[in-house]
Order: sequence, then C-alpha cells, then structure tokens
Amino acid sequence: MLELKQVSRLFGGLQALQAVDMLVPANRVVGLIGPNGAGKTTLINNISGLDHPSSGLIRFQQQEIHRLPPHRITALGIARTYQNIRLFGEMTALENLLISQHGRGRATMLDALVFSARFRREERYLREMAHHLLERFGLTGVAHMRAGNLPYGDQRRLEMARALATQPQLMLLDEPTAGMNPIETEQLGEQIIRLRADGLTVLVIEHDMSLIHQVCDEVYVLNFGQIIAHGTPDEIKNNPLVIEAYLGHEEAGGD
Ligand SMILES: Nc1ncnc2c1ncn2[C@@H]1O[C@H](COP(=O)(O)OP(=O)(O)O)[C@@H](O)[C@H]1O
Ligand SMILES: [Mg+2]
Repeated sequence: MLELKQVSRLFGGLQALQAVDMLVPANRVVGLIGPNGAGKTTLINNISGLDHPSSGLIRFQQQEIHRLPPHRITALGIARTYQNIRLFGEMTALENLLISQHGRGRATMLDALVFSARFRREERYLREMAHHLLERFGLTGVAHMRAGNLPYGDQRRLEMARALATQPQLMLLDEPTAGMNPIETEQLGEQIIRLRADGLTVLVIEHDMSLIHQVCDEVYVLNFGQIIAHGTPDEIKNNPLVIEAYLGHEEAGGD
C-alpha cells in the first residue's frame, strides 16, 4: 500500500531521515517508535506532503507521491492527525468535521449558489456522516461545543474523527494517545483496531508500548533518522539495538 525507498531529509546539516526503507502493507496496523527527535514526525510529514524528502521516493498504491502537495495526497486517500492537535478551536466539534469533508462532495459552487437538489442531498449526507463519526468516537454529547473548550482526550478523538471524515484508506496517527489516561488510551487502541476491521491501513507513532502490543501487526524503530529494527512487537521488545537506543537517550519514552 505504502512504500518508502531510501527516503532522506536534511534540515541544514541535520539528517532528520537517513535512507529510510519502509513497507506498510494494506489493512495492517504498523507502529513507528523511537526516542524523541528520532525523526518520526518528519517521516509522517513527508508522507502527508507537508514536507518533502531531500532524496528517495514514496509510493502510495503504485503512485509516486513525494512531490505532491498535501491536498492532493488527502484526495488520494491518506489522512493524518497531528502530535500537536490542530483543530479549529473557535468552531464546534461538528463544524470541525463538516469543514474537513469539504471538497469530498461532487456539488459545484454553482450548485451551492442555486441551492440545487444535488447540493442539498450532499449536505444532508455529509451531516449524517459527521454525526456517525461523532457517535463512533463518543463525541455526540459535545457536538455543539467549541473544539478549543473540549477536554484533551475529546480533542484527540475529534482529530481522529476529522481525519476519518476525509474517507481515507491510509491513516497516519502522530502520538494519538499523548496526554490520555490509561483507560482512554486503551479505548483509543480499540478504535485503531476497528479501523483495521473496516479495511483501513494505519501507521501509528506511539510511545505507549502496551498500546503498540495491543494494536500493531509490525513495528519499525527509528533512531537518529535511521531504521534500526523492524519486526513484530515481541521481536522489537527484545531487540538489543532497540533497548540500547532507548536507554541511550535521557528523555526515552518522554514527550
Ligand atoms: N522544520 C524543521 N527544521 C529544522 N529541523 C527540524 C524541522 N523539523 C524537525 N527538525 C528536527 O529533526 C529532528 C527530528 O524531529 P522530529 O521528526 O520532530 O522527531 P520525533 O517526532 O521523532 O520526536 C529533530 O532534531 C528536529 O529538531
Ligand atoms: Mg514527533
């Protein structure tokens, strides 16, 4: 589904990514772990078009995507969440979902201006889908609250719902449980498992090893921009290189 070949990203003299090879098979949950500053977010930024590799290539369903802008990549079926939540804080939870669906419909601006049947039909469909997503993520009760006023866990779930509103095939999750308590974290794990059951593919950056064990089919480990290990969660846990990478960093497991 997703393939990275020798992807490197230089920021001035800093090699944030060094010749990364990665394969994310369809309908799998793949974990990406590594100490702070390892390059995990940079990797997701490069897949989602927010940033571009200095060299190497990224393919999604056989198509090269590493030079495309973010909106083209979204249109191809890749959605993401952010480590630092990016919601429209002044808008309600529901409005955040409706605005991200914008552009998915077929109705034209003219349809909207004349308020055509097609436009009304699509509006109704998009609203129904938004309400389904709110329900799925336990957010129905806060649908009309401003996103910025929601508790942290709700904001994280809303970010995931918003990514899902673009109807992606591949979801990129950047530390989706950061700031959540253990119960919320496990529930989010169940949401990730449900994405896979629905046929989606997931690449998830995560520090919580119990979540990695709960949801991941396989795991890649990034350290100083390089993949140092790849395997099942159990294989990774016992890999000496991985243990050393974490112990060698003072802020291991932090963020
Ligand atoms: N836009 C940027 N410009 C310069 N350096 C950056 C930029 N983005 C990230 N970096 C650097 O790249 C490295 C990897 O960062 P990041 O991908 O955020 O790590 P992680 O998500 O694994 O904690 C860090 O040293 C960070 O400071
Ligand atoms: Mg990060």
